[in-house]
Amino acid sequence: MKLAIPREAAPGELRCAVTPDSVKRLAALGLSVAVEAGAGAGAGAGDAALAEAGATIVDDPRALLADARIVCRVQPPSEAEAEALPLDVLLVSFLPASTPRPVIERLRQRRASCFSFELVPRISRAQAMDALSSQASIAGYKAVLLAAARLPKILPLQMTAAGTIAPARVLVMGAGVAGLQAIATARRLGAVVEATDVRTAAREEVTSLGARFVELELEAQEGAGGYARAQSEEFLKRQRALVAERVAASDVVVTTAAIPGRRAPVLVTEAMVRSMRPGSVIVDGAADTGGNCELTVIGEEVDRHGVTIIGRRNLPATVPAAASQVFARNVAEVLQHLVHDGALVLDLDDPVTGPSLAIHAGEVRSPQMQAPPG
Ligand SMILES: NC(=O)c1ccc[n+]([C@@H]2O[C@H](COP(=O)([O-])OP(=O)(O)OC[C@H]3O[C@@H](n4cnc5c(N)ncnc54)[C@H](O)[C@@H]3O)[C@@H](O)[C@H]2O)c1
Repeated sequence: MKLAIPREAAPGELRCAVTPDSVKRLAALGLSVAVEAGAGAGAGAGDAALAEAGATIVDDPRALLADARIVCRVQPPSEAEAEALPLDVLLVSFLPASTPRPVIERLRQRRASCFSFELVPRISRAQAMDALSSQASIAGYKAVLLAAARLPKILPLQMTAAGTIAPARVLVMGAGVAGLQAIATARRLGAVVEATDVRTAAREEVTSLGARFVELELEAQEGAGGYARAQSEEFLKRQRALVAERVAASDVVVTTAAIPGRRAPVLVTEAMVRSMRPGSVIVDGAADTGGNCELTVIGEEVDRHGVTIIGRRNLPATVPAAASQVFARNVAEVLQHLVHDGALVLDLDDPVTGPSLAIHAGEVRSPQMQAPPG
């Protein structure tokens, strides 16, 4: 059974769905792995290393996809890429509910089945397949490094004969997977860290990393599956009022607050940016879903009122080797779950497979994808 790995064409996407290690695992499942030439180059997995691990390197994208039963990629396909897929293929990739309708339509026409990483249930059995978490963790780490590199101060306390430098103050808003990794990274660099979240479970996780939890005294916003639920504008207004003082006192604010399938909530207003000391840095880790700061320019780094606001998209792709290593592992786990005795088994009653298939044999199953866009 042939598994094809196309080269990612999205701008700035350097990650790859396989690594030499994962190719070996996939081959052990009885799959013959074909990789488009250059697909792993950005992630440090050159053609030679992938071929040595057992992959066939293919130059022609059409030849790559011919007879492929499974296609694995990082980003959702474009309309043209979806149209080029073989009939009845299994696609394993990120496939958010916001994927453009024409792409979904092409996937339907190809009678594709689509295993979407956004839909993997957060149950212990599926943890090794959880690419949202593996990539969020890398993003949280990188967000703090970007902030540290821009900040005109150092993060740790420094005591020398020339005097004492106080540690920087870092506020992390949203203490999920990315936020917790941001807290851990900022702590390792010696910053004094505070964090806030709307889920009660976050308090213990934050304090166990040596950060202070900012109590909001608002009703908890727990949703399903360990995520936060969508909040009303009234709630967000009260939250902003309560957290404003902490933002003003911070040298660095890293925001990672998100609600699955929705625009990110606005937590940092222009007035809050104005209240920060000149030279302070905000890294908006929610830039991919609209941003948590009112002044974020998506995809850019800007100076507003003397504060550097970083709204880079796709932070995991800026650490492509590490991000691909864990993503490829997630992909291999998915295929280990779906391939039995060399055959593909898409059991809709299985607690991991069923919920994760956004589309099955051309039929859209994800309610969010069926709803009209917007
Ligand atoms: N297999 C598993 O059981 C599993 C795997 C991964 C994560 N989880 C759980 O799910 C949690 C959230 O996961 P995620 O990081 O992918 O979520 P996410 O990316 O959807 O959101 C990031 C964080 O933003 C927070 N948030 C939302 N609105 C906010 C607001 N107005 N103010 C402050 N914070 C706000 C959320 O509560 C969440 O912690 C994790 O911390 C973990 O507890 C469980």
